[in-house]
Amino acid sequence: MFPIHRPRRLRKNETIRKMVRETSITPDNFIYPLFVTYGKGVRKEISSMPGCFQESVDETVKNAKEVYSLGIPSVILFGIPEYKDEIGSSAYDEHGVVQETIKAIKDSVPELYIITDVCMCEYTSHGHCGIVKGGDVLNDPTLELLAKEAVSHAKAGADMVAPSDMMDGRVEAIRLALDEEGFSEIPIMSYAAKYASAFYGPFREAAESTPQFGDRRSYQMDPANRREALREIALDIEEGADIIMVKPALAYLDIISDVKDAFDVPVAAYNVSGEYSLVKAAGRLGWIDEQRVMIEILTSIKRAGADLILTYFAKDAAKILNK
Ligand code: PBG
Repeated sequence: MFPIHRPRRLRKNETIRKMVRETSITPDNFIYPLFVTYGKGVRKEISSMPGCFQESVDETVKNAKEVYSLGIPSVILFGIPEYKDEIGSSAYDEHGVVQETIKAIKDSVPELYIITDVCMCEYTSHGHCGIVKGGDVLNDPTLELLAKEAVSHAKAGADMVAPSDMMDGRVEAIRLALDEEGFSEIPIMSYAAKYASAFYGPFREAAESTPQFGDRRSYQMDPANRREALREIALDIEEGADIIMVKPALAYLDIISDVKDAFDVPVAAYNVSGEYSLVKAAGRLGWIDEQRVMIEILTSIKRAGADLILTYFAKDAAKILNK
């Protein structure tokens, strides 16, 4: 009891604060998302995500070099293809944007660990994450396409695949297909607890993947649910997921914490586009100290239990953390 106990003793100066700090973030924890598009010399800033770009393969390679030089070990690739159709065939085209980007990055920055987002929404004309029939997104027929996409990424040289579609059974379908094609060593990071979130708004501009009708609530999770996340994750681990992800991160710290307690696989959290845009916008208006808020958010996500953080802040944060 006071006056014996005075917690302020351990906050007296930065040295002692550092010594007792419970959580630290490093660029080793970061995965940086890149939006790759067709063409040459393209570097188009995404208006709702200042500092993030749609880039053609050549520009992506330059960016990838910078990412690696900042000590960020990994990127996740999203493709904006030249053509879209009902069945998202550009997703598994061996000369698709993502496939070509993987090869180009591996040629010039071979140590950079390449993860690919495996989903249909960027490649389908209707913008949904699977095959659509009569207004419904069909689960089982979509699995085959996702498996094909994952295999084509592995063939191009991806180090890890990350399915984000939220179809039931996709992890197993992808695992079996990868193993059959000789890619048994390629891990799967599943977007296991992915919520139907309005925080994805800016991403849909970035990836040009807005659904043309309806929404994603029949496949992504209801933001009101907590226990369901544990069930989704248990299923994905059973199906063979090596790393599981919670998405979004900041409004879902309780989920990250539950998952960390309940399972022993590495936990990733996706600090999504809307979370980034809010901070950038308020920073520009001078309403918050953008850098401090950024570090505080990333630290909170790690403190909640995330081992890995997918974040558009990765480069900005690395520049501060490397000082
Ligand atoms: C694709 C996908 C989305 C995000 C990652 N993969 C969008 C969505 O589900 O609509 C969102 C990422 C972000 O907002 O930063 N399914």
